[in-house]
Amino acid sequence: MYRIVFTQVLSRIDPEDIHHLTVGALRLLSATPVVRRLVHRRLAPRDPALRVQAFGVHFPSPFGLAAGFDKDARCVEAMSALGFGHVEVGTITAHAQPGNARPRLFRLVRERAVINRMGFNNAGAAAAAKALGRTRGVPVVVGVNIGKTKVVPESQAADDYVTSAKELAPLADYLVVNVSSPNTPGLRDLQAVELLRPLLRAVKEVADGTPRRTPLLVKIAPDLADEDVDAVADLALELGLDGVIATNTTISREGVSSTETGGLSGRPLKARSLEVLRRLRARVGDRLVLVSVGGVEGVDDVWERLLAGATLVQGYTGMIYEGPLWAWRINRDLSRRLRRHGVADVRQIIGRTAG
Ligand SMILES: Cc1cc2nc3c(=O)[nH]c(=O)nc-3n(C[C@H](O)[C@H](O)[C@H](O)COP(=O)(O)O)c2cc1C
Repeated sequence: MYRIVFTQVLSRIDPEDIHHLTVGALRLLSATPVVRRLVHRRLAPRDPALRVQAFGVHFPSPFGLAAGFDKDARCVEAMSALGFGHVEVGTITAHAQPGNARPRLFRLVRERAVINRMGFNNAGAAAAAKALGRTRGVPVVVGVNIGKTKVVPESQAADDYVTSAKELAPLADYLVVNVSSPNTPGLRDLQAVELLRPLLRAVKEVADGTPRRTPLLVKIAPDLADEDVDAVADLALELGLDGVIATNTTISREGVSSTETGGLSGRPLKARSLEVLRRLRARVGDRLVLVSVGGVEGVDDVWERLLAGATLVQGYTGMIYEGPLWAWRINRDLSRRLRRHGVADVRQIIGRTAG
């Protein structure tokens, strides 16, 4: 059904317009508890076999929504009702900013991919804090992804992240330092260990200072050289971080015809994302929580990432092509597959094929 609607209607409309319409509708759903609870009862994961625990947080399913969809924490409750086991909001910057000029979001339908150069358009940390404050009391796992305000120079990057962390860490089930989006000039340079160490240290101090000690993760790019993936993993261990999220979108255009600038996501990212996950797992074993994202389309991908050592798996672009029942379907199929394999608990398969 969604496929027909997508081909006949949605694919002809500007993708960012659709995004805003969708978020508007989901916001309405979030703000309508009776309907939302009905949807939740129907679509949210309830199978105890899907439950996972990571950095002290309980997730109803390992599959969650990646950052970038709900940038301002406007529809967290609705996404949870649609079946996502967690919702990562953001990227949020200390100061509100408009992002890049439109058009900045492009569908590559044949390749089941998207290119975006949104540029962290968001209402800023204070507004996000207000929005997150409203979701308290609703049982949904919320990750908060923070990034650098565009106009802030690299030399003040740590202070900028700290401002966001102070505002948002107390409201987050986990906090993510995003140094990997390709659409803020210079951002990815912060992945170099000598710049990343002081930045992560400063944010960690804030995260450690919240009443519940907020878990801290770093999100990395797929375009890092393998040695740099290792270096970030080593740094995460050294600083006592809780996990690594791999990966963000890629600047590579391998396998796609479009030359639009921005970050590429979806199917063409799948192989590299999995490769980075395997590399991370080989380096850190189960000492860090690994969150795998990039090119996940269905249960086969989720299964493969879990086996390769991811405790949590995320997706975004897949939803654009699969529609609102995507997460529900993945959870349903994951439950079925676990039963078929005689596995009583999804945690038993995590890292099973890792070396
Ligand atoms: C339109 C769009 C906007 C995104 N914005 C962000 C963002 O603000 N912060 C971030 O960390 N990742 C962002 N991402 C990256 C996703 O979180 C994810 O890492 C990437 O898209 C790979 O997953 P996918 O192939 O399932 O989409 C964005 C992705 C898309 C498609």
